[in-house]
Amino acid sequence: MTILGFPAELKSQEKRCAVLPVNVKAYKLLGASVQVQAGIGKHIHVSDEEYVAAGADVIASRDELLANADIVPSLHKLNTDDLNHLTPNTMIVSYLDPFNEKGFVGSLCDQNITSISMEMIPRISRCQKMDALSSQASLAGYVMVMQAVNQLDSVLPMMMTPAGTLKPAKVFVIGAGVAGLQAIATAKRLGASVTAFDTRTVVAEQVQSLGAKFLHIDLGETGETGQGYAQALTSEQMQIQQREQAKCIAESDIVITTAQLFGRKPPLLIDQQTVESMQAGSVIVDMAAENGGNVEGTVSGEIIKHKGVTIIGTGNWANGVAKHATQMYANNLFNLISEFWHKEENRFDLDIEDEVQSGCIITHQGLVVNAMLKSIYAANNSLTSEKGEA
Ligand code: NAI
Repeated sequence: MTILGFPAELKSQEKRCAVLPVNVKAYKLLGASVQVQAGIGKHIHVSDEEYVAAGADVIASRDELLANADIVPSLHKLNTDDLNHLTPNTMIVSYLDPFNEKGFVGSLCDQNITSISMEMIPRISRCQKMDALSSQASLAGYVMVMQAVNQLDSVLPMMMTPAGTLKPAKVFVIGAGVAGLQAIATAKRLGASVTAFDTRTVVAEQVQSLGAKFLHIDLGETGETGQGYAQALTSEQMQIQQREQAKCIAESDIVITTAQLFGRKPPLLIDQQTVESMQAGSVIVDMAAENGGNVEGTVSGEIIKHKGVTIIGTGNWANGVAKHATQMYANNLFNLISEFWHKEENRFDLDIEDEVQSGCIITHQGLVVNAMLKSIYAANNSLTSEKGEA
């Protein structure tokens, strides 16, 4: 019988995990056996007893859990020492950050580990239920607004009271993808006056359908990739964007930046001069802080003040609502594993030719097999050339 082994998350401050008791029951119905590391759900108040009641075996030793498992699903990637305890041909499924973690991907090849990267799940309709980038980004959009509100010394909604009228706060959201749209919806629900901008003009309608204004900036040719991601702007276009959005930023109480470029460093959208143009007491939330930042002066993992403007770069946003984030991530994982479950043989039906699996399987049988990564690695003196083509 296939054993799924869920280790506890080791990353500092991480509260989320990759499985809830309800998922254990669902995996058991598929025909899998489930083992979880003791204490896996403690940060979200789910006890070992609840996992046992759902049908899981709770294993105290992490090394033993890893050695037992045929499939190891987790949130963050395992550490390098963990890999020594896996048996060859074990499959791991987690965030892998494969563009930046070439060394780790090399270790997976060395240890003959098959790996699936949750970031690389294709963005097609069939995969929406497995799309962890979207599920966690959506919660991030909500959390960013909450964090900004906590720092602001005024309210968001308009209030007409006998003691006077309070104007609604102005919120500007840059990047109206999954996180940005949720931030817009959350700020609107709280009564703010919301404006948004995105280089993909197709989202203007989505922004307006949430009751927010779309800031139109003529950047000429922009566009998006086949998977719906933004194309990088030229430096001239970046200058136009920065110039045209400056007034809106200066007038905003809260600015939330969510601009990302898949597999690349996020664009710098707000320079120091623009930060300084904001009223003292206003707040910026920089979603991209951990990857370099959309805002000049952001400090990853911290909340700082620059000339009276608070810049929030805490990151790991979905962790702020860890229970719901776990629910969504664990469902994404279950939806992925169950989609390819071979019912008669009770195992994951690995097929590196499949449309979905070929997009997200990174390593298999000692080789990097993912086409996108192979071409990127090949451009930088690749792993594939060291190990031969798959
Ligand atoms: P993302 O996290 O890569 O980027 C966030 C947003 O930043 C995007 O909307 C992007 O256009 C924007 N951006 C990039 N550079 C910018 C700049 N200089 N100024 C302003 N905005 C900038 O993307 P995300 O949010 O993960 O997804 C983007 C889109 O992908 C979605 O809105 C959707 O259309 C599509 N998608 C499709 C899915 C599917 O299954 N079919 C699933 C998820 C997303």
